[in-house]
Amino acid sequence: MSSPLLTVTGGVEVSNVSKSYGTGDARTTVLDNVSLSIRMGEFVSVIGPSGCGKSTLLKVIAGLTPADSGTVTVDGSTVKAATKNKMIGLVPQSPALLPWRTVLDNVALPMNVNRGANTGRTLRDPREILDRFGLGAAVDKYPSQLSGGMQQRVAIARAFVFDPSVLLMDEPFSALDEMNRDKQRLGLLDFWQSNRKAVLFVTHSVPEAIMLSDRIVVMAAHPGRIAEIIDVTLPRPRTEDVYATDEFRDLEGVVRTTLRNVMGETHV
Ligand SMILES: Nc1ncnc2c1ncn2[C@@H]1O[C@H](COP(=O)(O)OP(=O)(O)OP(=O)(O)O)[C@@H](O)[C@H]1O
Ligand SMILES: [Mg+2]
Repeated sequence: MSSPLLTVTGGVEVSNVSKSYGTGDARTTVLDNVSLSIRMGEFVSVIGPSGCGKSTLLKVIAGLTPADSGTVTVDGSTVKAATKNKMIGLVPQSPALLPWRTVLDNVALPMNVNRGANTGRTLRDPREILDRFGLGAAVDKYPSQLSGGMQQRVAIARAFVFDPSVLLMDEPFSALDEMNRDKQRLGLLDFWQSNRKAVLFVTHSVPEAIMLSDRIVVMAAHPGRIAEIIDVTLPRPRTEDVYATDEFRDLEGVVRTTLRNVMGETHV
C-alpha cells in the first residue's frame, strides 16, 4: 500500500491550451485557450456536450495528443517527463484491452513492458487492485469473456498499477447499469479517499459529477472551452445518503442550468 500521507503541493497545471484539427476550411478549434489547475488530492470532473473536447483535453494532459499552443505541467514536470516517470494514469473512453491476454496479464502489462521506467515508484499488486474493483474472481478470464462494464473496470485497475499521482478517467462507468455504477462510484471514492491523487474525471452524468467531485468543470463546444467551474462543498466521506440532501439537489439544479445554457449557446 502507498503512504496515506496527503501531498498538498503539485498537481496539474493546464495553461492556455489550444488545439485544432484539420486544415484550411476544414480546420476546427477543439480546445480554445483552456486553463485549469488540479491540486494534488483534488477530484475534478469535466462535463459538457458531446464533441466539446473532453477526451482531447485528457489526451493532451496524458501526452497522447500534442497541444498547438499552451503548456501542461504535472507536479512541475513537463508531460513528457511525467509520462516517462509513470506519474499519469489514463483510463481511456474505450477500455483497449488486449484480447489475447487474461485480465491479470492485461493489468500487469504496464509493469512488464516498462520495467526500467518504474524506478522509485511504488508498484501495486495487480491482484489486490483487481480485488478492490470486484474482479478477484475474473483474473484468469479473457476480455471477450467479460461484460462491457467489467472490461471498463479492468482498464481502471490497470491505471492504478504504477500508483500514479495523477489519474485521468474518461467516462469510466459509462457501460455500467445505474446500480453497478453507484457501487463503482463509491468504490472509487473509497479508494481515492485512502490514496489521494489528482483526478480529472470525464462524465455525462450530473449526479455522478456531484457525488465524486470537489469541483465540476462545465465545458462548452464550438470551440471547446471552459464555460464555468462549480465548487462542490458537500462534506466527505460521501455515501448514497448524499443524493437525498437539499444541498445535493440545489447543486444538481445549478449544474443542469449551466449545462442547458451551454447547450443552448452551442445548439448541440
Ligand atoms: N484525431 C482527430 N482528428 C480529427 N478530429 C478529431 C480527432 N479527435 C477528435 N476530433 C474532433 O474533436 C472534437 C472533440 O472530440 P472529443 O473526442 O475530445 O470530444 P468529447 O467531448 O470527448 O465527446 P464525447 O462526449 O462524445 O466523448 C470532435 O469534433 C471530434 O470530431
Ligand atoms: Mg470523449
